[in-house]
Amino acid sequence: MMALGQTVKAQSEIVAAVRELSVRAADCPELMKNVVRLLAAERPYYSWTGFYLIDGAQTLVLGPYQGKPSPHTRIPLNQGICGAAASTGEALIVDDVNADPRYLACSLETRSEIVVPIKREGKVLGEIDIDSDQPAAFSDEDRRLLEEIAEIVAGRL
Ligand code: SME
Repeated sequence: MMALGQTVKAQSEIVAAVRELSVRAADCPELMKNVVRLLAAERPYYSWTGFYLIDGAQTLVLGPYQGKPSPHTRIPLNQGICGAAASTGEALIVDDVNADPRYLACSLETRSEIVVPIKREGKVLGEIDIDSDQPAAFSDEDRRLLEEIAEIVAGRL
């Protein structure tokens, strides 16, 4: 829950801030670190925020993240909600992770998840993965925000 009087940036302000981070970052890992920090600060219901990048052809490898350490540091493309989003190249929103047989648990508190692929010229290079401790936390607005951020990050990969 947000503290009284706390304000969060609007979607367009976050995208503008990520563009600024992208220009200033020395490399993509630095950009990704700053993006997870920004998102965790601006969207309090994002309980775990991280990047996975595709290594070789078949595995997602955990990159910068903020939240509890995840046991899933490498995820094959045929496993998990992360693997499903990377395989189809389409964003996935899961309102109740415990009702989705694909779900790989990261934390017992997680209730919902969004995964947005990072693509360049149609090819999936990685993804942004966010868990929430709130059920059905993610809307199309989150998807649009994260798709814009994914496009900016793709430009630095
Ligand atoms: N829940 C993901 C695994 C990654 S952790 O949430 C960080 C999945 O089902 O693919």
